[in-house]
Amino acid sequence: MTSSKIALILRQCRLLGHDNLVDIAIQDGAIEAIAPQLESLASQELAVNGKLVSPPFVESHIHLDSALTVGQPRWNQSGTLFEGIDIWRDRKQSLSLEDVKTRAITTLKLQAQQGVLFVRTHADVSEANLTALKALLEVREAVRDWLTVQVVAFPQDGVYGSPGNEARLEEALKLGADAVGGIPHYEMTREDGVQSVHRIFELAQRYDRLIDIHCDEIDDDQARFLEVVAACAIRSGLGDRVTASHTTAFGSYNNAYALKLMGLLERARINFIANPLINITLQGRTDTYPKRRGVTRVKELWQRGLNVSLGNDCVQDPWYSLGTGNMLAVASMAVHVCQMTGQSEIDACYGMVTTHGARTLKVEDHYGLAVGKPANLVVLDADSPYEAIRHSATVTHVISRGKLLAQTQPATTTWLGTDV
Ligand code: FE2
Repeated sequence: MTSSKIALILRQCRLLGHDNLVDIAIQDGAIEAIAPQLESLASQELAVNGKLVSPPFVESHIHLDSALTVGQPRWNQSGTLFEGIDIWRDRKQSLSLEDVKTRAITTLKLQAQQGVLFVRTHADVSEANLTALKALLEVREAVRDWLTVQVVAFPQDGVYGSPGNEARLEEALKLGADAVGGIPHYEMTREDGVQSVHRIFELAQRYDRLIDIHCDEIDDDQARFLEVVAACAIRSGLGDRVTASHTTAFGSYNNAYALKLMGLLERARINFIANPLINITLQGRTDTYPKRRGVTRVKELWQRGLNVSLGNDCVQDPWYSLGTGNMLAVASMAVHVCQMTGQSEIDACYGMVTTHGARTLKVEDHYGLAVGKPANLVVLDADSPYEAIRHSATVTHVISRGKLLAQTQPATTTWLGTDV
C-alpha cells in the first residue's frame, strides 16, 4: 500500500470483535486495510476517537409505496391491519409514478442519514396498473450508487383476493422484482391461503427469485401458514432463500404446537423478520386484558440459532402513523417487547438490524467490515451496541461505497440549573 493512493482513513475506530482500536483505510470504494495504526497518509482523514464503527443498518422490511401517506384519505381510527388495508385500497387508486417515487426517495434519504444502506421494500401489486411496483423498480435504480434496494412483489389484497392479482404478481417478476411475496392469512379461505403459498414457491422457482411472505400477521391462534411455508421450503430446497415476515400468530400458539413447529423451522432454515414497532400497536386490538404483545417468538427463534432480523414495516402510513425509519428504535422496541434485556440478548437485537438483516437479504458478500469488502459503514456516537440502543445514538457519519454520504452532529445540552 502506497501512501499517495489512500482516499480516506478513519482513525481510532472501535469495531465489534476487536479488543484494540483500529484505523480503516478506504480506497476505490472498498476497504483497503484495517490495522491498529496505519502509517499511510490520506486525502481525507476522519478522527473517530474510539467511537463504534459498524456495518450499516439493514432495513429488512418496509413498504415504501405507502410511506408518508398518513391521513390520506383518512386516519386509521381502529388501529387494525384490516382498516389499514381498506384505507390503502382507497389511497392507491390515485397513485402516480411521481407520487410513489418522491415519497420513497424521501424515506430512503431519511433512513440513509440514519445509517441504513440496505433496504428490502414491498411493492403492492394488487393495483391495476402496477404503479407502485414500476415506481419502486425505478427508485431501486435511481439510488443504486448509494443504497441497495430489493423490491418484493407483494399482493396486498391476496393472490386470489380479486381477479388479476395472480397475473400481476407474475408480471411483476417479469418486470424485475427481486422477490415474490404473499399474504396467506388475508386470503378469503384457508384453502386459498395454502394454495397461494404453493403458487409463490412455483413462481420463485420459475423466475429464480427470493421469497418473502407476510405470514400469519394476525392474533388468530389458528392461523397456521408458517408451517406451510416451512414445509414448502424443505421440499423445494429453497431454505434460506425464503423469509417469513411478521408471523405474529406464533406469539398466540399454545406451547405444544409451538414446540412441534420449532422443530419444523429448524429443518427449514428459513429467515424471520419481526416488526416490533408496528406490531405492538397493530396487534391485540381485539383483546381486552390481558392484552397480547402481538410479536413473534423472536427470543426463542434466536435461541434456536435461526436467523431473525427486524424491520420498521411502515413509516407514517395507514398502518402506523408514527416512525422515522430509525433502526435503533426498532432494536430498542425488540429489546423491550421480546424481553431481550440480557447483555447477549441486547447485542443480538443489534445484530438483527445489521448482520442478521444482511443474511435475510442475502447480501453478505457485499456486507461487513473486512478488507476487500465495499466500504459501507457507519460511525455511531456510542462505544457499544448496548449504548447505541440505550440512548438511540446519533449516527454521526455514513460512508457509502467509500464516500461520505451524510454527517450529523449529536445534540448537545447545556445545564443552566443550579449546581448541587
Ligand atoms: Fe409488511
